[in-house]
Order: sequence, then C-alpha cells, then structure tokens
Amino acid sequence: MKPVKVGLLGLGTVGGGTVTVLARNAVEISRRAGRGIEISHAAARAYDPDRIQGLDRIGRIGDDAFAIVNDPDVQIVVELIGGYSPARELVLQAIANGKHVVTANKALIATHGNEIFAAARDRGVMVGFEAAVAGGIPIIKALREGLAANHIEWIAGIINGTGNFILTEMRDKQRDFADVLAEAQALGYAEADPTFDIEGIDAAHKLTILSSLAFGVPLRFEHCFTEGIAKVGALDVAYAAELGYRIKHLGITRRSAGGIELRVHPTLIPERRLIANVDGVMNAVLVKGDAVGPTLYYGAGAGALPTASAVVADLVDVVRTLTTDPSNRVPHLAFQPDELADIPS
Ligand code: HSE
Repeated sequence: MKPVKVGLLGLGTVGGGTVTVLARNAVEISRRAGRGIEISHAAARAYDPDRIQGLDRIGRIGDDAFAIVNDPDVQIVVELIGGYSPARELVLQAIANGKHVVTANKALIATHGNEIFAAARDRGVMVGFEAAVAGGIPIIKALREGLAANHIEWIAGIINGTGNFILTEMRDKQRDFADVLAEAQALGYAEADPTFDIEGIDAAHKLTILSSLAFGVPLRFEHCFTEGIAKVGALDVAYAAELGYRIKHLGITRRSAGGIELRVHPTLIPERRLIANVDGVMNAVLVKGDAVGPTLYYGAGAGALPTASAVVADLVDVVRTLTTDPSNRVPHLAFQPDELADIPS
C-alpha cells in the first residue's frame, strides 16, 4: 500500500523533531500504523538546514502553506507553526478540504477548539492534539481511552516544562530567573513568546484542554484563573525549602458546586509528595477517577523529540482510522455542539 501523504507546517523545534522521529523509527511506525507515513509537503517560516533533512522542497508559511492545505494529494495536515493566525485559518481550511489534522498548538485548541472540533465533526475528519498538553506524556489518550470508565473528580499537574525548569534551577543551583529562562529558550522548551510560560498562560491553555476532556464541557479558557511564576523570587524558593516545601506551578481543575473550577498558580507542596519531586523540564499530571482512584502520569513536558513522540502517535492514530467508519472514531471532546450555549460560567 502507498504511504499516506502528510503536509507538515512548521519546522521549528517540534517540526524538526517530527521529521527526525518519522525517519528514525519509520519501520516500527509503519507497522503500527498499517502503512508508511511520508512528509510529501512542508512549509516553514524558517528552519535549520543542518537539522532538517530528507524533505524535497520546503515552502514558506503564507501562500505555500495554503497551497499545501488545498493540495488534493495531502491526506493529513500537521500544524506545528503555533500561535493563533494563520494557524487557525490553515487548520480550518484543511478541515474544509476533508483533511485530517494533527496539531501541537495548545493556544489554538484552547481558544478556537470549539469551532475547530465542530468543523471537524461536520466534515467527518480527525483532529489529533496529544502534543498540545504535557509534551510526550500521553495524557489525552489516558483521559479519553484509559480512564474512559471513570467519573473524573479532579486533575492537578505540572504542565509547563519551562516554568518547572526555572523553579528547579532556582532552588537547586540558586540560579537567576532570567538566566534560566534564557537557557530554556535556547533548549527549545519555551514558547515563541516566553511570557506565555512565565505568566501561566501556556499552563492555562493546557488545563483548559484537560478540563474539557475530563468533564465533558466545552473549552472555556477565559474562565481559568491564571497566575504564573514571574513573581516568584529567590527568597520565596529558599524560605519554602527551609520550611520543607517546594514551590511548584500547578494547574488544577475539578468539579465544584458552582461549576468547573480551573486555576493555574504557584503552590507550596510538602517535599515528601511525589509531585514535589518532579524536576527540570519534566511534567506530571495527577488524575483522580472514581473507579481507578488517583493515577499519575510523568514525562518530559517540552522539547523536540518528546513532543514529536506525541505528534507521531496522533499521526499513527489517524492513519489507523483512515479505514474506519467515521462514526466509529473516538470523538474529539465529550460534549455535543448544542451544549455550548448553556455552560455556567
Ligand atoms: N513552552 C512549553 C513548556 C512547551 O515549557 O511546557 C511545551 O508545551
């Protein structure tokens, strides 16, 4: 059988990692997907030619990217350019053209996901977004599949790798906040606009997505209380340690009497707790289900290859379902479009 043709938009950290993983593990991936997966088209704002190899022609984000989402040969579009625009327009155009989409774009899903999933449902196509939350940790699949039997009570997690890296280095090596942030940027952990990491916006995007999946409610990013780590100083970290605590930036969502609670902020956690010992760029997500009890998911929350692992897992999923009746596919989120109107704030 011929390989499935993929149009790849974006060749930054995650795009480069996706090219590497698809080439490195091509045999296993094609066995698991049931077919080969070929990046037949690509477009990027910029890329490092030493890192990106094996692609025939690389166009520009702009007309070339729209040509890719309109190309009848392309079956799946992978959107890794990030940000709101033109990512939103490209994804909606790809869906309108009947193409499946895989994206790592948490900002896009958290703020335009309701529109995107409604369009995808109408067109009968898949939108994979495993890479949008917690890097390489398969938390979307865990919530949607592994915990499908459960009434989810709450989720709490460290879901921004850059922030956790900064807090860890400040505590362990007494490093300066700005200096560690610069390193996180150099390592490809931080967002294009790093204020998203340090002001908690990135974590709020991810928590919005987890909450929607866990509780079957529409995405409501604007309802998330959002405070980042920008105001955490060296003294705060040192005093917390003296008292036997660690400062961790957590995202917490749970059902409460007033509706669904969504909040991200720095938290003091006793150092004997597992989650207090999640260090560096690692993420950890605790999920409490009524049947399973508490569960914990741990892994790299950012970086080229861990995030690419999640992108390629979604590609494998989409390729597997190409032969499945659309009505049998896993739904994007667990709510119906007509529920959008009556969600309490
Ligand atoms: N900037 C994000 C983080 C990248 O540090 O977690 C992964 O989503």
